[in-house]
Amino acid sequence: MEILDFKIAQDENVYPPSEDSYLLIEAINPNNSINALEIGIGSGIISMHLAKKIDTVFSCDINPYSLFLSRQNALANSISNIYLFSSNIFSSIKPGILFDLIVFNPPYLPVDSPPRKLIDLSYHGGIDGGDHIRTFLKSLGLFLSINGTTYLLQSSLYPLENTTNYLENNNFKYNIKRTLKLDFETLYVLEISFFKNNKF
Ligand SMILES: C[S@@+](CC[C@H](N)C(=O)[O-])C[C@H]1O[C@@H](n2cnc3c(N)ncnc32)[C@H](O)[C@@H]1O
Repeated sequence: MEILDFKIAQDENVYPPSEDSYLLIEAINPNNSINALEIGIGSGIISMHLAKKIDTVFSCDINPYSLFLSRQNALANSISNIYLFSSNIFSSIKPGILFDLIVFNPPYLPVDSPPRKLIDLSYHGGIDGGDHIRTFLKSLGLFLSINGTTYLLQSSLYPLENTTNYLENNNFKYNIKRTLKLDFETLYVLEISFFKNNKF
């Protein structure tokens, strides 16, 4: 299948390109970024878009099928500047390694039963939908370069003010870069950077 000029294969175990993926792609401004990190790569669509604009893209997922499919998709599109690795959010990255651009489209559905299949990991956001967002935000400051920018997708299913309050209290500034109203939720893309370029 052709999506945004990319040849994209799909796999029943992997999150397919969807409205939230496209909303993030529309929102991202790569500016002068030299490197980027995508957490939760899915089919690879966002990382492939980044790889056309940025020298080096590091991309991880917790789902091995996603890493395999993203590798196939990058190869099918002759993209060779995406470096794939397995990670639980930032767990595989050494603190001190910094990224100019960080992108995360997290699993955000509020679900109170544990995931049963690997594809469920694409959706399960814990009881209130915010588990992955909170884990991500807690460590974000360690990995974002001083002038770097982060793009985070969030749904209204998890209160937006939980995230914005955290950002305001932890030396970040943000801007709601895109909004998309769907039947049962509204999607937001937050553009996040350090407040006054001052890391701590
Ligand atoms: C909503 S999908 C987004 C996929 C892709 N970025 C896109 O926008 O089309 C969330 C992705 O995060 C991955 N994921 C879930 N939990 C994760 C974790 N703890 N660490 C890293 N990736 C995770 C899932 O496997 C899935 O590929």
